[in-house]
Amino acid sequence: MSMSTASETGEPSGGERLAAIGSLLAGVVPEIEWRVHEPYIAEIARLKEERNAFVIVHNYQTPEIFHGVADFTGDSLAMAYAGAATEADVIVVCGVHFMAETAKILSPEKTVLIPDIAAGCSLAASIRREDVRELRRRYPGVPVVTYVNTSAEVKAESDICCTSANAVQVVESLGAERVIFLPDEFLGKYVAAQTDVEIVLWKGHCEVHERFRAEELQDYRASHPGLDVIAHPECSPDVLAEADFVGSTAKMIDHVRERRPAQVLMVTECSMSDNVSVELPEVEFIRPCNLCPHMKKITLPKIEQALRTLAPTVEVEPETGARARRAVELMLAVGAR
Ligand code: 13P
Ligand code: SF4
Repeated sequence: MSMSTASETGEPSGGERLAAIGSLLAGVVPEIEWRVHEPYIAEIARLKEERNAFVIVHNYQTPEIFHGVADFTGDSLAMAYAGAATEADVIVVCGVHFMAETAKILSPEKTVLIPDIAAGCSLAASIRREDVRELRRRYPGVPVVTYVNTSAEVKAESDICCTSANAVQVVESLGAERVIFLPDEFLGKYVAAQTDVEIVLWKGHCEVHERFRAEELQDYRASHPGLDVIAHPECSPDVLAEADFVGSTAKMIDHVRERRPAQVLMVTECSMSDNVSVELPEVEFIRPCNLCPHMKKITLPKIEQALRTLAPTVEVEPETGARARRAVELMLAVGAR
């Protein structure tokens, strides 16, 4: 058997890859922290090969995860497509539980790991299966559009899912005069402002985005002339009215990549600015720092442990999974990015 070293093949060695990540992150991860992360990133790279694992990372993860161990990064919609497309045996979702559950719904035969099973979401916690059944009784014949930030049980009761990237297109794809939109009230109001379809709302909120205030953004604008303000549609209507651009996390990133404003304020979870600033050092990110406590449960040691022990796995009861899958696949067919 002939063997060749990384330097002979022209491929960077593991050590060279690590050093490259270290210098990329120098502006956002202090040296003393990087020394702690380094051995975990190396071990995770080794375990990924051993397990034939694919690591999908949400835009809100910390830079050492986002830039250090991801095979794929994106918003909830892109994560769902990537999970459905991978041929790996193991999918590791570095995000919150509903994201990992979506991967399991689409790939029930695969091992889907989430490094911390308790990484939840205030929107997913705001609604149960019984609530959807009650709404269907109250509004007979009105289709149910459900944000992916929900449990598999809630998805299973729904006609179709959506994400913040395609909510308007999904609502309009049904050709209905009225739809029930669950569970994010603010995203529902954002959709209602852009369509003639009547939207029946639920009062779920994202605990991170509901904290932003319009006055806070006005103050930032006053102190930073020319500031580009871009917001996630989980923010309140008052906040969105102050924004120059509204979109999913991926659309926000694309906007900054294309526009390259001198100064930008991303009205969303704090780590995203760190992740994008690594790529765009010429853009100054103004950071009002709201962290998602659920996203922040995912750490490098937990990712390493999940790959080593193949736990915790995400499981979905097969019948619920099949019904939820229908709603998710209908969304993926609408697409719209
Ligand atoms: P995106 O789909 O825009 O990434 O949003 C997911 C999320 O949880 C935002 O809080
Ligand atoms: Fe849920 Fe909000 Fe955290 Fe996103 S940021 S996972 S919507 S709590």
